[in-house]
Amino acid sequence: MNALANNQGPRIKHAAGDAAPYETVTIDKLTPLIGAEVGGVDLAAPSNRQMDEIHRALAENLVIFFRDQELTQQQHLDFGRKFGELHVHPAAPSEPIHPALMIIKADKDSPRANGEGWHSDVSCDEEPPMGSILYIKECPPAGGDTLFANMYAAYDALSDRMKAYLEGLTAVHDGEQNYRGTYANFGIADKPSYPRAEHPVVRTHPVTGKKALYVNKGFTRRILGVPRDESDGILAYLFEHMANPLFQCRFRWRRNSVAFWDNRCAQHRAMWDYWPHSRYGNRVTIKGARPV
Ligand code: SIN
Repeated sequence: MNALANNQGPRIKHAAGDAAPYETVTIDKLTPLIGAEVGGVDLAAPSNRQMDEIHRALAENLVIFFRDQELTQQQHLDFGRKFGELHVHPAAPSEPIHPALMIIKADKDSPRANGEGWHSDVSCDEEPPMGSILYIKECPPAGGDTLFANMYAAYDALSDRMKAYLEGLTAVHDGEQNYRGTYANFGIADKPSYPRAEHPVVRTHPVTGKKALYVNKGFTRRILGVPRDESDGILAYLFEHMANPLFQCRFRWRRNSVAFWDNRCAQHRAMWDYWPHSRYGNRVTIKGARPV
């Protein structure tokens, strides 16, 4: 029985309510655990004080949203660069002359949409991206939401016995299954190989110092050092556990909205429920460090 199913109720920690107020942006939380809409800022020209508060809002909410942004491709890239070097996706299409500006697009002719299962972006990289900034410019009339899940809360809600079991384990994350043939409809030829890496099953966030569950259905293939069937069983349990709606928020896009998520402590999942309508935008992804 896990900590969510026993009689003690979920062991969900909420942020302290007495934090200092924000002064240069507004914060409207989607849920107590994850997600906040940040208002009063133009991402094309944020002030230094606003940048400090955006960093803080991301650390406190794991994913932050901005509405009604008018960004050129260059301004989107420039905003991303304020958080670090930009990552180039190992497989996905990008805009002409901007390899770091990934295309997120699905329409009536698409065989699939990007990010339909729970994942943390490109966790198969040796140094997976710290964050991703998605700017949606064309929305379907309804649907196309993105779900986000808090991996600190997923970790915290595990039983002490499960936490002890997972301590020190590593897992293989592999891009092969996800990426081979996936972008053929964009005219992209496959590469000879795709990234593969080993990461801790539980990682410590470099900014908050908190522990987060770091396995995801999209990329994590097996836990090392235990029999294959045991790895399959534990991963199946963890994938089901992390997908509990208690850990989630759901963002309803409007044209010119931006979502900025922290891949080190959040997973996300895009809903492709809008066929035959179109959804289009760009993602700028920020490089990260090796998980520890
Ligand atoms: C992704 O970056 O995984 C896609 C997210 C989305 O399209 O909402």
